[in-house]
Order: sequence, then structure tokens, then C-alpha cells
Amino acid sequence: MNAAVRAVVRRGISAGLEVVGIWRGYTGMLRGDFVDMNPRSVSNIIQRGGTILKTDRCKEFLQPEGRSKGARNLRAHEIDGLVVIGGDGSFRGAHALCTEHDVPVIGVPGTIDNDLFGTDFTIGFDTAINNAVDAIDKIRDTAAAHERLFLVEVMGRKSGFIGLAVGLAAGAEMVVIPEEPMGIDAICQTLSAGIERGKASSVVVVAEGDVAGGVFKIAERMKETVGQEVKVVVLGHLQRGGNPTARDRILASTLGAAAVDALLAGKKDVMVGEVNGVPTTCALEETFSKKHPFDRSQLELAKVLAI
Ligand code: F6P
Repeated sequence: MNAAVRAVVRRGISAGLEVVGIWRGYTGMLRGDFVDMNPRSVSNIIQRGGTILKTDRCKEFLQPEGRSKGARNLRAHEIDGLVVIGGDGSFRGAHALCTEHDVPVIGVPGTIDNDLFGTDFTIGFDTAINNAVDAIDKIRDTAAAHERLFLVEVMGRKSGFIGLAVGLAAGAEMVVIPEEPMGIDAICQTLSAGIERGKASSVVVVAEGDVAGGVFKIAERMKETVGQEVKVVVLGHLQRGGNPTARDRILASTLGAAAVDALLAGKKDVMVGEVNGVPTTCALEETFSKKHPFDRSQLELAKVLAI
């Protein structure tokens, strides 16, 4: 997200604009926590995870009164256009602010979940999956040495894009994601069949949430049915931190600058994104009301390669 903030600030200033940062997203917009930005405000941040502007989940902005207050504060600070970097929740708020108060808003897709429609990749996804794969590579050493079965829970809120990408890249024996609901018995049977085929250790990637009853429930049942020691690792926020990958930095730089260009071109209520490597814009409302395409062939590939 820092790389995107840097791109917005520097592209804006190079185009002759004044750029203002808002602390803690919508929370800061409601409190009037604004800060003037200059090219040096964003020095030395492209390699840092998180966001120097900080962030928050703002309940008040879900209400029309909250958004009215936000729009009033933007006008009071003479802000003519807004760039929102975030996921579906941020974009729902941005779309409402634009339609209710005619604030020109451009969205930049910033979520590790990669679950927005209108862009092939969201900023943070590549870093998150690399973090998770790196962790699983390390877990595999114990799995192999002790001949154990590991259930590894990854993030993704309600979607399995992280789970599938991580499972494929880490060579997981199984991927359990919401896009392909599976009962615990079916999961245990698949793993038992693998053990019978000579698999001495296994890694199962499980998407967070209550997929198949949740990672701990699956582990409990496995302990009874699969003849191997079972361990659970919840990767959690480890996936969301650390230095962003080069790919994420390039995407964030490209889309941050594209957001400023979109505002200058008079666009509003759209998200900037990339589809098949081509820069695009997509109506904000579509980004959260339509589904990011799920590539079932990748799931089938993960299964074939896990024999
Ligand atoms: O939407 C991004 C995400 O990291 C999800 O994958 C995860 O479910 C959620 O945020 C975690 O949110 P929090 O940090 O507020 O617990």
C-alpha cells in the first residue's frame, strides 16, 4: 500500500496538483485528520509493508450521516478528488460517497484477498502468497522429517484465491477452499488414499473461515481417521506484512499513478486495474457486486500434481 501512496503523491505533484493524505482512511476523513504531502513525505517507503498513513475499519462511514460528514470535511479542506486504496468494504464506501455527494473518487485495488472484479491482481496478493509459500516451505522440513500431516490455514476472508495460489505454489497435497465445498470425511478419505499410495507426509492448505468446519475441526477428525500425527498452523497476519514483492511494488506504482491520471481525465466512481496486462477502469459498484473469476482449471491442476 505504501508503494501506491508514494505513486499517488508523486504523480499528483508532478502533474501540478496539491496532494493531501488522510490518516486512518475514512476514520481520519470524519475527524478531519488531513496532512499535506510532498515528494519527501513518501521517501523510503516503497519497500515497507503496511501504510504510513495508517488504516482503520470505520463503522460510522457505513451510515449515510457518516458519509455526509466525510463529504463536508473534504469540501472544507478544498479537496477536489479522492483516491481510495482498499478492498470491497472501502469501495462500497467510496461508491456511496460518490453517488450521494458527487465526490470524484477513484479506487486502487489494495487487498491481499485478490477478490475484486475488474483487475487480474490486487496490490498485496503477490506478497501475501509469497509469504505463505515461504512459511510452508519451512513447515515441510518438519513434516518430512517427522512424517506428519500439517493443516495450514491461510487468509482470504470469504474467498479461496490465496488458498489456491498458495496450494499450487507450495505443492500442497490438498487445497480446501470455499469455491469447492468438501465435507471432512471426503478430506480424510483423500488424505488416507495418499498415505496408501506411499505419501509419508502431507501439507493441506485450508482457507480461513468455516470451510469444512474450520481447520481445528478438520484436524480433530483427522486425528481419529488418518494414521499420522496431525499439526495445525494458522499463518494469520504473517501473510500481510513484510517487504512487498517487486511485482506488488510495480503494480502499486502503476495503479497509483493511473488513479491520478483518471482523476485528471475527469473520471469518477471507477477502480483502476489491469486485465491481461492492459490498464483498465471498472465501475466501482461492479468491483464488489460481481465475482472475481475463479480459475477451476488451476484447482484441477493442483489435484493432478498432488498424486
Ligand atoms: O481482507 C484482507 C484480510 O487480510 C482478510 O484476508 C482477512 O480475513 C482480514 O483481512 C483480517 O482482518 P483483520 O486484520 O481486521 O483481522
